[in-house]
Amino acid sequence: MENSHALVIPYPAQGHVIPMMELSYCLMHRGFRITFVITEFNHARVMTALPKTGGVNGQIRLVTIPDGMAPGEDRNDVGKLCESILRVMPCGLEALIRKINESDHDTITCLVADWCMGWAVEVAAKMGIRGAAVWTVPMGLCAVMFHVPKLIEDGILDADGFPKKQQMIKLSPTMPGLSTAHLLWLCIGDRVSQKSLFQYFDGCTRATKFADWFFCNSFYEIEPYAYDLVPKVLPIGPLMAGRRHGLLEGNFWPENSTCLSWLDEQPARSVIYVAFGSFTIFDQCQFQELALGLEISNRSFLWVVRPDLTNGSLNAYPDGFEARVANRGRIIGWSPQQKVLAHPSIACFLTHCGWNSTMEGVSNGVPFLCWPYFADQFQNQAYISDVWKVGLQMKPNSSGIISREEIKGKIDELLGDEGIRARSLELKRIAQKNVAEGGSSYKNFDDFIESIKSGSVREISMNGTVNWLSL
Ligand code: UDX
Repeated sequence: MENSHALVIPYPAQGHVIPMMELSYCLMHRGFRITFVITEFNHARVMTALPKTGGVNGQIRLVTIPDGMAPGEDRNDVGKLCESILRVMPCGLEALIRKINESDHDTITCLVADWCMGWAVEVAAKMGIRGAAVWTVPMGLCAVMFHVPKLIEDGILDADGFPKKQQMIKLSPTMPGLSTAHLLWLCIGDRVSQKSLFQYFDGCTRATKFADWFFCNSFYEIEPYAYDLVPKVLPIGPLMAGRRHGLLEGNFWPENSTCLSWLDEQPARSVIYVAFGSFTIFDQCQFQELALGLEISNRSFLWVVRPDLTNGSLNAYPDGFEARVANRGRIIGWSPQQKVLAHPSIACFLTHCGWNSTMEGVSNGVPFLCWPYFADQFQNQAYISDVWKVGLQMKPNSSGIISREEIKGKIDELLGDEGIRARSLELKRIAQKNVAEGGSSYKNFDDFIESIKSGSVREISMNGTVNWLSL
């Protein structure tokens, strides 16, 4: 089918807009036109953050629909945001698709929806448009979501998604256990918002039954047990579109690229890169302890301190800290992270273990220091430190604080561990092999493109032993 036109819709958060934009560029490189649906609120943020010299590529058209919340409302209240999304966005999306399809010269060929917007696949299916659901989170989380009915049936969860008792969930003998305390919907808010989050995510998972294709932004070798549990989901990662210098990446904060020339001046593998994604918040005490840990490490560091990283209005550093570390530390508000992680001067990545950060670190062979904050990040940390063994976990003390001594100690331990470094490089090799021509992720993506272009739909084979997965 010539002139394929994909409508791509991410969940309206930074850690979802970036990988879905990445996927859009991958589709664009294969000849697709893209309509990228973004909420009005996030559109304003992205446009404000866009460098003056940058631009929106003509083949990726940004289209806005409202998320239903007032401009000043707290979109970090995820329960409220999800309720609002469900209330207004399905109608907005349907109207948008109708408008595009009713124009003389344009038709949407397929819809590509973030799993957290699974309802969009249902909207598309009802309009006769084929859809793909994409998990921008680990396949391990995808497997948990598909097993929710079984977890309820086995009495591990009640019908509202609350665990009957705290325990480790093991979906298969080979899959790392997941504490019920770290289930995605239980990581935030009070019981009421946790219940509504559970209903939202479970509903999104159920809605993906309308999808023709199921993809995850990871690769088989790092989570084989999870892919084996849900064989209809295929890996297409790690998504790294490249080749889009100066173009829209979907950042919510202006990128400070001056750190790249600073990195150029640093010796190879000498700099600790410290970044906690888009959502993590520190209290003042932990923030200062982190600063002091970096100081006593006596190493160079590049630290991303988002304007809203601390829960007060100020990111208050310890007295005299900035002057004391001025000759070896750079602090910026938002980095060009993928370029930073690919830079030869980076020695390790102190991270909250968001899935995108995890995939980006793995793709570049960078060892990790893990400091998970919420949601899938605990599962990701377990992969990094216990399964792939490419990093170390930061441990809080009895007061729940990760101390400066712990930070310094773990940095020293990590950088002295040749085994971790060797395994990181090996994982990088496997990741790159997957997305290179002929690799499994490449082939899955290629099959998807070809089947859209030819108008055919792949037969999804279901594993008979997990027939309850057909929700
Ligand atoms: C959230 C959740 O935290 C994460 O666990 C989930 O898997 C996706 O949604 P976030 O906290 O933003 O994401 O972390 P992460 O998944 O790591 O995504 C952050 C993205 O922002 C990455 O693509 C990273 O490259 C980018 N980033 C981060 C920058 O470009 N610059 C920065 O300074 C920091």
